[in-house]
Amino acid sequence: MSNLNAGQLRFLGLPGSIRREAYSLAVLRGLQARLGEAMLGIRDLHLPLYDQDVDGSAAPEVVTAFRSAIAGCDGLIISTPEYNHGTSGVLKNALDWASRPFGRSVLTNKPVLVISSSPAFTGGVRAHAQVNETLLSVQALIVSGPQVVIGGVADKVRDGRLVDEAALSFTLAAVDRLAALCRVTEEPALA
Ligand SMILES: Cc1cc2nc3c(=O)[nH]c(=O)nc-3n(C[C@H](O)[C@H](O)[C@H](O)COP(=O)(O)O)c2cc1C
Repeated sequence: MSNLNAGQLRFLGLPGSIRREAYSLAVLRGLQARLGEAMLGIRDLHLPLYDQDVDGSAAPEVVTAFRSAIAGCDGLIISTPEYNHGTSGVLKNALDWASRPFGRSVLTNKPVLVISSSPAFTGGVRAHAQVNETLLSVQALIVSGPQVVIGGVADKVRDGRLVDEAALSFTLAAVDRLAALCRVTEEPALA
């Protein structure tokens, strides 16, 4: 972090891949190494496939816990891979669970920073756009400014975490913007 006292904030990182050595997880681990585990927790997205028949009061416990984790954090950091020019089914599925109940989604008004990464030069930019589109539909507060798109990520990760200094400082600047957005949304409305 640079100029913000973001020490009291608590972010939740969601990696859009459940692969053990996933780059999308490594990106979050790299951030976690800089921010500390007290500021950035990471939660995997092992969730059942969305099924409206079992949603509602009978929603699976893992889904209820997932929704509570989102409700309980100040801001989300979503790290998406790119599959076939879109986001992963794993992440889209998780966002679908989080988007309900309709009108009372824990994503509504939640500050969210979206990061995409890929071993390709294009850095998952199409997945990035798709995640933004989904977040817009549930009225999440997407961090604006330069998009964090990490191309060639395979060369920027070591021992399971992002270590590339340029990518890290660019991403941490976006985390600063996330923190600023959290602060603004926490401020009481002016009378
Ligand atoms: C089914 C599939 C589709 C993919 N499609 C793309 C793609 O459209 N664009 C891209 O940049 N990489 C694509 N890749 C490569 C992924 O970026 C790469 O496997 C990456 O490591 C997956 O993310 P992860 O490391 O977070 O699991 C694809 C990989 C798979 C398995």
